[in-house]
Amino acid sequence: MNILIAGGSGFLGRELAQQAWATGHAVTATFATRAGDMPGIHWLPMDLRRSEEITAALRETQPDVVINAAYRKADWATTADGAIRLAVAATQHGSRLVQVSSDAIFSGADVHYDESATPDPVTPYGAAKAAAETAIRLFSPDAVIARTSLIIGGGGSVHEAFIHDLATGRRSGVLFTDDIRCPVHVADLARAILELTDGNHAGVCHLAGSDAVSRHELGVLIADREALDASLLTAGCRAGTDSPGALDVRLDSTRTQRTLRTTLRGARDFLRRER
Ligand SMILES: NC(=O)c1ccc[n+]([C@@H]2O[C@H](COP(=O)([O-])OP(=O)(O)OC[C@H]3O[C@@H](n4cnc5c(N)ncnc54)[C@H](OP(=O)(O)O)[C@@H]3O)[C@@H](O)[C@H]2O)c1
Repeated sequence: MNILIAGGSGFLGRELAQQAWATGHAVTATFATRAGDMPGIHWLPMDLRRSEEITAALRETQPDVVINAAYRKADWATTADGAIRLAVAATQHGSRLVQVSSDAIFSGADVHYDESATPDPVTPYGAAKAAAETAIRLFSPDAVIARTSLIIGGGGSVHEAFIHDLATGRRSGVLFTDDIRCPVHVADLARAILELTDGNHAGVCHLAGSDAVSRHELGVLIADREALDASLLTAGCRAGTDSPGALDVRLDSTRTQRTLRTTLRGARDFLRRER
């Protein structure tokens, strides 16, 4: 297949590009500011805020599948408008679409969220992702909306870099014990997303790991994997602080997992294996 990965220079995008290329697909990966340097990948600049760049990329690459892993957190023009602009263009072009979304669309009020749950975002980032989801779901029912949680793996994520800095004393901070998510390994996530491009899937899918862990437990698991001193990780409670965002959001991926060959491992499992 011919696959276009928007945000191919990002953490998830690079893993998607590498796996897709290694399994024999023709891969174009896009970037906003700087191209990647992986062999076998065709790199294209594509800013989701610019319609003409999207049109040019689709015309040049003629993709069977478009995966959108591009975002800039709370930048509405990229994360909401840009995602919708790309989805409209991909649909008009006849490409299958996978829009990567986030557990940030939920407030945490219900704690457990399966694929049927209605978004109730409490941050600008969550609102932008929810807006993109809603538009894409309504005008392109065949598209896949792939929601995920904290993306971890191989030391390359911002979350792992943060823990590394805390556990080596390069920065200070508190890891909350009541801030809970279902982290996923980047390799599992990319493999699952590529499975979802096969045309047999549509609509909302949940691709989170099977373990619900607090930020503090996640930090300890990462520190242990890297043989760092986990006692330097300060535990605290987020409830009652003015830190924005949801507290406890657990994506339930049971329904999607049943349809996949890829196992979405839990953080306790994959971080112990990575030791
Ligand atoms: N990271 C997580 O823990 C997490 C959790 C849940 C969901 N997600 C979702 O997973 C996806 C990938 O996340 P990630 O952590 O891999 O992201 P990332 O590493 O921050 O990469 C973001 C990508 O988007 C590109 N980009 C930024 N602004 C753009 C624009 N205006 N137009 C086009 N491309 C733009 C970046 O290009 P440059 O590098 O060239 O600037 C980069 O390729 C996102 O949809 C995110 O919402 C992530």
